[in-house]
Amino acid sequence: MKHLTAISFVLGFALLPQIDTGRTVWDGVYNEAQAERGALDYTKNCGGCHMENMAGQGEVPALKGTAFMDRWRDYSLQPLFSLIKTEMPPLRFRTPGTPKLSDETYTDILTYLLKANDFPAGASELALDALDKVQIVGREGPAPPPNFALVLVVGCMALTADSRWVVVAATEPVRATMPDIATAEELRASLAKRFGTRQFRLADFGYLGAEFRPESLRGQKIQVKGYLIRQREFERISVTSLQTVASRCG
Ligand code: HEC
Repeated sequence: MKHLTAISFVLGFALLPQIDTGRTVWDGVYNEAQAERGALDYTKNCGGCHMENMAGQGEVPALKGTAFMDRWRDYSLQPLFSLIKTEMPPLRFRTPGTPKLSDETYTDILTYLLKANDFPAGASELALDALDKVQIVGREGPAPPPNFALVLVVGCMALTADSRWVVVAATEPVRATMPDIATAEELRASLAKRFGTRQFRLADFGYLGAEFRPESLRGQKIQVKGYLIRQREFERISVTSLQTVASRCG
């Protein structure tokens, strides 16, 4: 009996990360004490530029509201954390005395941003290793990426009757990071993805280098990253990375 309990405990524990991946910022992923610490650090390190109420000023963007949310929704918390950690304050404003904050402090500040954007507090603190498991989603749930967002789609490389390169049978576009890079992990996930029903024109191959030959990928299953440009007649992706994931689409 004791033995069984031990096993189920271990199993239960092993299942936890899976449950975690379904979490969003609406699930109370930080607590009040953490956001309060974050507020103090925000005032000290960020408020001078972004303003105490996060409304921004001049070229300094607001850290709450619709425009801010549109840039970050449907990503995990990780890219937002990384931007704050690596790029704030911006290089051109950095003085030799600018303090380097700890990862914990950046996490606390991030929870204060969540609070300011009306995402509810919960029982426990947001941990550093949970950042990539919590999705930022808007009040209405996940939404299609906005115009000009960096996206990833998987589909089949094809040439239309009027000689335009397109990705057909494509998946719904999801927001992506690292425009020029296709990681091994992404390619593995793309290989496993089923084809969809979308079609996108592929534009700006020049970015991929002079050697890039679209013909060589015709009929292959591909992973495309690029900037989504919505137009009335068709949607276009300004390509930043294009990789084969399988040599055939069937
Ligand atoms: C010296 C002024 C300054 C300070 C201090 C500063 N920022 Fe910024 N922040 C900026 C500017 C300017 C931008 C716009 C991007 C750029 O110019 O690099 C920006 C952009 C951002 C963005 C991206 C916003 C968006 O809409 O996508 C976030 C998030 C951010 N800052 C958070 C912070 C946090 C958190 C701190 C404190 C740890 C901080 N910033 C400190 C000036 C500042």
